[in-house]
Amino acid sequence: VQGVKEQDETLQGLRDSEVSFHALVDAVQDYAIFRLDREGRVATWNSGARRIKGYFGGEILGRHFSCFYTPEEREAGKPQEQLRKAAEFGRTQDQGWLVRKDGSKFWANVVLTALRDEHGQLQGFAKVTQDISELKHAEDALRRLSGRLMELQDQERRRLARELHDSIGQCLTAIKINLDVLSGEASDLNLSERARKGLHDAVTLVEQCFAETRTISYLLHPPLLDERGLSCAVQWYGDGFADRSGIKLSMELPEEGLRFPQPLETTLFRIVQECLTNIHRHSGSSTAAIRLQADREKLTLEVSDQGHGMAATELDRCNGSSRVLGVGIAGMRERVRQLGGRLVIDSSPRGTVVRAILPLGGTS
Ligand SMILES: Nc1ncnc2c1ncn2[C@@H]1O[C@H](COP(=O)(O)OP(=O)(O)OP(=O)(O)O)[C@@H](O)[C@H]1O
Ligand SMILES: [Mg+2]
Repeated sequence: VQGVKEQDETLQGLRDSEVSFHALVDAVQDYAIFRLDREGRVATWNSGARRIKGYFGGEILGRHFSCFYTPEEREAGKPQEQLRKAAEFGRTQDQGWLVRKDGSKFWANVVLTALRDEHGQLQGFAKVTQDISELKHAEDALRRLSGRLMELQDQERRRLARELHDSIGQCLTAIKINLDVLSGEASDLNLSERARKGLHDAVTLVEQCFAETRTISYLLHPPLLDERGLSCAVQWYGDGFADRSGIKLSMELPEEGLRFPQPLETTLFRIVQECLTNIHRHSGSSTAAIRLQADREKLTLEVSDQGHGMAATELDRCNGSSRVLGVGIAGMRERVRQLGGRLVIDSSPRGTVVRAILPLGGTS
């Protein structure tokens, strides 16, 4: 009698904990948590699922879960593919658009887990869905901002370069002419030794200023880029970089005179600048290479070094997530994306390769 009573109490305890577990799952508002049978038909429903997807339990139980996907993805067999993956690997995670009852879409993080009994027989699936539309919007906005930042920086550089060249450059030229006149007539003037030396120094200083302004203006935005094109500007910039940094740089560029759409030329030039700066600042490499290739459909730029490479976490951050803001790699990536292309970085302890591929013809 004692034994039976204990058994009863254990069973009651199990039932109680099952009831409270169901109550717990049902109370969760932020996640849709439900079970699918082996074929993918909805078997349970919680209040989070009701809130996120819009269906009441009564109208969705028994229906196939493919109704949560967009028509395109249904057509492409994505729901079945997800079930197959979960059955094969035990679990699958995915982010993408899902459809609510009213037809509106939301960006979801979905985890699908295979449920098996103690003999390993597939019993169905557990599906946990989270609406992360807000996160997605914030990330998209951040990416657009990165691209916009780089675009604005371009415009600003162009403006500054022009300003330096046109107004300050012109002023310096005028000063130099006047000083030259003065110097020419210095012997006729009754100048003290001090004044004569001052005049001589002034001429030298103006010349230095002139050279400096020209260099800064060229580095900001070389007029060569607009006048003679990408190959010419990269060649000029690369030569200057190699001279100043002592890094041995090899370049393989299309013949000069071959022109590409202006946004592409500016973007690729900026990538060359950013990559060379990164190589100088971060890679520790004494060699680097630039390769630019053009075919009928696309432009491919490759900037490589033989340095110590990027840390794995850094590489992940740069290649994978868009959650970084900046004008460095993040800015380059977004600018390339806006032009319909892609940017891929390979990095190992033997060096880093940044590859940008831009389609010719298609810009957005
Ligand atoms: N060629 C490289 N070799 C090794 N590490 C690199 C290389 N290029 C980039 N990195 C690493 O990747 C990081 C991100 O580069 P990114 O250009 O985005 O930023 P940054 O150079 O640090 O700053 P900035 O915004 O001024 O460009 C760098 O801080 C560096 O650690
Ligand atoms: Mg950088």
